[in-house]
Amino acid sequence: MDLFFVNHYRFDFYCTQGHHEGMSTTARVIVFDTTLRDGEQAPGYSLDVTSKLTMAHALDALGVDIIEAGFPIASPADSEAVRQIAAGVRRPVIAALARTRAQDIEEAARALAPAGRSRIHTFLATSDLHLSAKLRITRDECLDSAVSAVTLARNFTDDVEFSAEDATRSDRDFLCRVIEAVINAGCTTVNLPDTVGYATPDELREFFEEIITRVPNAGRAIFSTHCHNDLGLAVANSLAAIQGGVRQVECSINGIGERAGNASLEELVMALRVRPDRLPFDTGIRSQALFETSQLLSTLTSEPVQANKAIVGRNAFAHEAGIHQDGVLKDARTYEIMKPEDVGQSVSSRLVLGRHSGRHAVQSRCETLGFTLTPAEVGEVYHAVISLGEHRKSIGDGDLRRIVDRVRTPASASAAASTAHVETVGYGHGV
Ligand code: KIV
Ligand code: ZN
Repeated sequence: MDLFFVNHYRFDFYCTQGHHEGMSTTARVIVFDTTLRDGEQAPGYSLDVTSKLTMAHALDALGVDIIEAGFPIASPADSEAVRQIAAGVRRPVIAALARTRAQDIEEAARALAPAGRSRIHTFLATSDLHLSAKLRITRDECLDSAVSAVTLARNFTDDVEFSAEDATRSDRDFLCRVIEAVINAGCTTVNLPDTVGYATPDELREFFEEIITRVPNAGRAIFSTHCHNDLGLAVANSLAAIQGGVRQVECSINGIGERAGNASLEELVMALRVRPDRLPFDTGIRSQALFETSQLLSTLTSEPVQANKAIVGRNAFAHEAGIHQDGVLKDARTYEIMKPEDVGQSVSSRLVLGRHSGRHAVQSRCETLGFTLTPAEVGEVYHAVISLGEHRKSIGDGDLRRIVDRVRTPASASAAASTAHVETVGYGHGV
């Protein structure tokens, strides 16, 4: 039985835009954003209610299918944030997290009450390590709690997700029993987290293939992946899980989340966009809004984005080395696999002037600023940029204007002439 054709109705319910399964050779993957739950619970990333609401509106504009808005039982502020998001953000499904305890589920249901479309996301660990060391319960008690929680949650909404925490380190036979039981109890999405970021991509793909094949009622639920980044594999693992049959990915803006974080939403989305030849899947994300959404999160949390962060880091499309600048000016495809504007990054910040820059980039930036330089002037400005770059991280437009003014004063005209022969390529610092 093929889950993804059997479950058409439910799939269309979540996917409010973009490609639809069965209508295209590109299969649609549901984006479940957990920035405001797993992300927000990480040190340094906590947000007040107003900031959470602002972020939720941005996630809606970005096109995520599901916003996990918080963990209502955790605090009154968390509950209030979920309630305000449920009331104010109408297009996406709004999800709230709950342990399997009745109080958790009832509080989640209360907070979600104003939502147009709500999901209760209940979770319980299934690995023997978590059962014995943390929860101190037996496998049978675990199974009963999971089924009772899903049954209770279904009284409040017909959209219930169950997560088997530490699924990737759980006994496979027991995990399959739990999954079958929760689906029979009415669970519509089965999330199998790699809670501690331990899995490898090939392993996770096989894991989902095996489980979806073995669980007899798998066709009645959507399978989901939730990967942590402890080994830096969260995105690779999530992509492998998609190849193994999952159709929901749990991820966060800038990859924020517990410890090393969750799979980064922007990296997942762009991997699918840039490599449909290897990964024939797509999402409903408006990729042009990725950069501003990442920046908004950084502003609201006062946590900077790593400069070389893929897709949204300030260096993700920046070129300082002369050879690269020359290539990009001739044809951007030489060093770029996607366009900065496709993810909302500015094209103008692409060429960074510094001590590694080349003559071609210096000239091009001068032209952008309105200066048409003679070959001799280009030579002198280029050398001035290189030597200023020895003392500065980068050289801005103001610096460049001052250099051009200096070069164009009569006193420096003869110096310009004497340096004109020095280099004709000018790939920058020692290259
Ligand atoms: O990492 C995890 O297992 C979780 C679950 C609560 C989904 O965050
Ligand atoms: Zn998690």
